[in-house]
Amino acid sequence: MAIKEIIKYPNPLLRQKTKPVIEFDESLKELINDLAETMYDAPGAGLAANQIGISIQVVIIDMPSSTDEDKREFLALINPEISDCEGSQVGEEGCLSVVDFSADVKRYQKIRVKAQSPDGKVTEFEAEDHFARVIQHEVDHLNGVLFIDHISSLKRALYKKKLKKILKEKQAANDNK
Ligand code: NI
Repeated sequence: MAIKEIIKYPNPLLRQKTKPVIEFDESLKELINDLAETMYDAPGAGLAANQIGISIQVVIIDMPSSTDEDKREFLALINPEISDCEGSQVGEEGCLSVVDFSADVKRYQKIRVKAQSPDGKVTEFEAEDHFARVIQHEVDHLNGVLFIDHISSLKRALYKKKLKKILKEKQAANDNK
């Protein structure tokens, strides 16, 4: 297991569509462990494989443990698909790949999810509210979509301006070293 570097917007790798997982082998399990360690170190509510530079359809979602409510565990979804979308909810989102920014995003309130487990077994379940929000955010990543694509163009332009300034300051700090 290892903590990996999280790729940050505007890196074009975040915009590439990811490929389906075909082999459910040891390297997939290793990747899932790396994702978990990286997510909990950050910390974040979920993480997609392409956020650490692996362009395949794997996401993990942080959840309360089913056996001990004081503990956390994570759910790994391989090749996830969303269907039967219902209702809507608006809530604040951030992203480990989008520095220093959060915004209200409209999502479906209830979704149906079909995915494979790390062993390749097909699972289907319904998700609502916050859980559904995180899954929609992570599945977006696999399609090269970021939460800032769901906000108004004005807000996005303001963020891009702010980010430019942040990156410039970082560059200046590096140059002075
Ligand atoms: Ni994200």
